[in-house]
Amino acid sequence: MTSELTLVVPTYNEAGNVEAFTAKAAKALEGIDWELVFVDDDSPDGTAKRIRQIAEANPRVRCLLRVGRRGLSSACIEGIMSTGSPFVAVMDADLQHDEGLLPAMLDILRQNEVDIVIASRYMEGGGVGDWDAGRALISKLATGLTNMVVRTRLSDPMSGFFMVRRDAFEGSVRHMSGTGFKIQLDLIASSPEPLRIRELPFNFRTRHAGISKLDSHVALDFFQLLLEKIMGRVLPIRFLMFISVGGLGVVVHLMALGVALNVLGAPFGLSQATAVLIAMTFNFTLNNSFTYRDRRLHGMKFITGLLSFYLACGIGGIINYSLAVFAFDQGFSWWLAGIMGAAVGAVWNFATTSILTWRK
Ligand code: GDD
Ligand code: MN
Repeated sequence: MTSELTLVVPTYNEAGNVEAFTAKAAKALEGIDWELVFVDDDSPDGTAKRIRQIAEANPRVRCLLRVGRRGLSSACIEGIMSTGSPFVAVMDADLQHDEGLLPAMLDILRQNEVDIVIASRYMEGGGVGDWDAGRALISKLATGLTNMVVRTRLSDPMSGFFMVRRDAFEGSVRHMSGTGFKIQLDLIASSPEPLRIRELPFNFRTRHAGISKLDSHVALDFFQLLLEKIMGRVLPIRFLMFISVGGLGVVVHLMALGVALNVLGAPFGLSQATAVLIAMTFNFTLNNSFTYRDRRLHGMKFITGLLSFYLACGIGGIINYSLAVFAFDQGFSWWLAGIMGAAVGAVWNFATTSILTWRK
């Protein structure tokens, strides 16, 4: 029989945690009809074997064993799709997520006013435990960036601890990228209808046993996911138009530079600065009339839009410059370094202005 709530818990080398997790979950969920699916990616430490031992004694528990695959997000997706429960929660196996919150999350979903309840570390009453200042800062920055891209105002879009209505999840799942580890962000960003969200505070605890699986790749995963979500939403044709306008902007820039320098006799620094401003203004105006004609800005909005465009492209310029210099120092030829800088700068400009300047 299908239970009301399924906990989906991805595991990779969590042999030292699954027993304690199951015991804590069982205690927190007394009086609730629940089941627990561990999705294990063939952990070398024998996690799956431990889970099966638990499952022998406890019919609520099962193990979904995946072979030859890795990934937190895809593990969660497959775990969720393996059940028919109307409500599903995703949690870490290492006891960092407070299972004591589960009954309250379920109560909220049962009232049918929201689609997803997110446990937040950054709300009043929540916390990140023993994180060092560096990881806390990175997490804050990623949170700001995510809210910009996903157009939400969540205190913690990436806590990784949430409970969702399965029909809401199924509405989203075919649009999800499923790569990397940001399942919660992926889910929210991929839903065709904006999800109704509630946040509840919790304290991120210290990992029980074992070590974290999130390494330097996760930063890459994260940016790839954000980029995919931005790109997937806009027609690529828009990007092509934006790039073409940028190409014209280069021509305008050179013409303005030539006139200021040779006709007006201005010093080079001043001429170059003037040319940058003229080219950016030209690009903005053209993009406003063509690339974003469906969202064209008028009057005061034209001015504020122009300022945000300057800002975004200014940062794009710095990124372009830094990357090119870095690539050149690494031994890439001058033109390849230049192209790399310009390409990343262009994607940045397009992505940020599509959000900041020509927000839908
Ligand atoms: N099946 C499977 N496959 N599970 C995985 C994999 C994988 O490739 N990688 C990690 N997991 C499991 C871990 O075993 C753990 O149960 C859970 O996913 C989270 O991994 P941790 O290694 O504990 O991640 P963390 O504590 O550093 O990061 C947590 O906090 C982040 C927010 O700062 C996670 O909850 C993230 O989702 C969250 O974004
Ligand atoms: Mn963890």
